Amino acid sequence: MTALLTTTDLAMRFPGRHGLTDLLRGIPRPVVRALDGVSLDVRPGETLGIVGESGCGKSTLARCLVGLHRPNAGAVRYQGTDIATLRGSARQAFHRQVQMVFQDPYGSLNPLMSVGASLAEALAVHRIVPPADIPRRVQDLLDRVHLPATAANRYPHEFSGGQRQRIGIARALAVEPKIIVADEPVSALDVSVQAQIVNLLQELQTSLGLTLVFITHDLRLVRHLTHRVAVMYLGRIVELGPTEDVFASARHPYTQALLRAVPRLVPGQRSRDVAVRGELPSPLAPPPGCAFHPRCQRAEPDCAATVPALALREGHWPVACLQADRAIAHSSTIATSTPSV
Ligand SMILES: Nc1ncnc2c1ncn2[C@@H]1O[C@H](COP(=O)(O)OP(=O)(O)O)[C@@H](O)[C@H]1O
Ligand SMILES: [Mg+2]
Repeated sequence: MTALLTTTDLAMRFPGRHGLTDLLRGIPRPVVRALDGVSLDVRPGETLGIVGESGCGKSTLARCLVGLHRPNAGAVRYQGTDIATLRGSARQAFHRQVQMVFQDPYGSLNPLMSVGASLAEALAVHRIVPPADIPRRVQDLLDRVHLPATAANRYPHEFSGGQRQRIGIARALAVEPKIIVADEPVSALDVSVQAQIVNLLQELQTSLGLTLVFITHDLRLVRHLTHRVAVMYLGRIVELGPTEDVFASARHPYTQALLRAVPRLVPGQRSRDVAVRGELPSPLAPPPGCAFHPRCQRAEPDCAATVPALALREGHWPVACLQADRAIAHSSTIATSTPSV
């Protein structure tokens, strides 16, 4: 299947904090490696989950995907074209077709405009419908996100968090995007409201044939909503596979640890496991080799020396782990000696 949006070897670095004393001592400014060698594809009509702990680079990746950040290295391609090369109307079309939904929808709503006026503006700027049809389209959009028609005359601050996120989604839908990149869209909401918004996204994804990139630190939401999942650790993707398969038999020790820590779905039963032992290292000084090795229970000496590639192995989804590779190689040797399938 041809990918709609791809990233190839994406790297993004930010200047780290530098005190005056460091500056006077001539200490070089530290560099935050927010993304390092991120390659993935977003396929038409799918919901791709991106999951990882806070600070692992999810939002940076989201911003690169929609063209809000220009990566230091690597490329983002939309329908095969490097988005850095897009100019004029082609660039505008990209920015219309790839929309972002933020954790805080205030980011995309003008607090001084009524909801109806905000939606009407988006429709007019991008000439989505003739001017005479705008009021009806505004009503359609509110209806799609299950808000009452009267919401058009009210202002963003008059709504609850969940309703405001519905407005943020309506704003993104107004310009008829092909892809929505939703960056922790429910993280600020109560659990009951989270479920409603996630269900709404799922409903829209199916009914409109949207492609959705859903970014979260909550694996339960990933399981409910996504077809495939990319697990990130310190600026890299460590595992990328079909959601059901990854949940059933994750191969990366980091993914396995995250899954063990998901609160059980049985009411009243909570997981006792801490997600991963040890602290998340600073992206200012990521450990050499596999960045996860200091926290990994399966680490071997070579893990500290070699950065594992996120490589596709025959019959397996990509995992960036030397030890998982070894296990896969071992099992496929057995498989070739006793052919099956
Ligand atoms: N604009 C920026 N300037 C400097 N550092 C940044 C900037 N944006 C993100 N970072 C750093 O990059 C790393 C990844 O951040 P982010 O992408 O926001 O992670 P996540 O969304 O997974 O929490 C963090 O260490 C963060 O402090
Ligand atoms: Mg973030």
